[in-house]
Amino acid sequence: ARIFNPKSGKTMMLAVDHGYFQGPTTGLKKPRETIMPLLPYADCLFVTRGILRNCISPSANTPVFLRVSGGPSVLGELSNEDITTSMKEALRLNAVGVGLSIFVGEKNEDRTISNLGRLVNEAEEYGMPVLAITAVGKEMARDARYLGLASRIAAEIGAHMVKTYYCEEDFEKVVEGCPVPIVIAGGKKIPERDALQMAFNAISKGAAGVDMGRNIFQSENPVAMIQAIKAVVHENYTVDEAFELFNKLKEKKVVSERV
Ligand code: R5P
Repeated sequence: ARIFNPKSGKTMMLAVDHGYFQGPTTGLKKPRETIMPLLPYADCLFVTRGILRNCISPSANTPVFLRVSGGPSVLGELSNEDITTSMKEALRLNAVGVGLSIFVGEKNEDRTISNLGRLVNEAEEYGMPVLAITAVGKEMARDARYLGLASRIAAEIGAHMVKTYYCEEDFEKVVEGCPVPIVIAGGKKIPERDALQMAFNAISKGAAGVDMGRNIFQSENPVAMIQAIKAVVHENYTVDEAFELFNKLKEKKVVSERV
């Protein structure tokens, strides 16, 4: 209930964990300045412990899903991940869940899937939900067959939620084949209207929400964008309505609308 809005049954998660392998990525060079104004509109923040400790005000009461895997940087072999943050730390930081990546079809797929199994084993002892992220390597096609394979494996190993990418064709089959809620990552920055369309399509085809980052914090107006995405996720806004809301908020015609 702390992750999913009880009215809509969906979740608007804000992903700001990119620095764990990308360093000071565009839009997150000053994490505190970017993240704090967005928090009132997020159901949940997906973040590393380093940013949580140093850049998020202790008075913020947005639930936190903690990124607990890492290892390689963007300069190395990305699938070479392990668990970097303990369950004890997640509990101490009052996280409502923990998340890690699996790299199906990549060099270290077996290790990352085993990481998921070990994390779920430990998390079950504390009733801590686990989000598995299906990281997609450069060589992999982001199609329903691949995303469906990776998402289903994550659920079979015990993930309570899966974050994967949206695909235009047969996304509903990815959702159908995965017995736990699926949220979508936004991927690389695309024009705002296209990102709203992607969120709308994903929700229409059965996604339980979004866990988006770059298409929000790299937007020309992140605070307007998160509200527009949130309207799609929770308020059944059409793409036209949400884009109109984005433009109005951007132009400050609506000063502090909360959707
Ligand atoms: C990868 O860095 C993380 O798993 C992100 O949390 C995920 O990719 C969502 O962020 P974006 O919407 O920018 O793809």
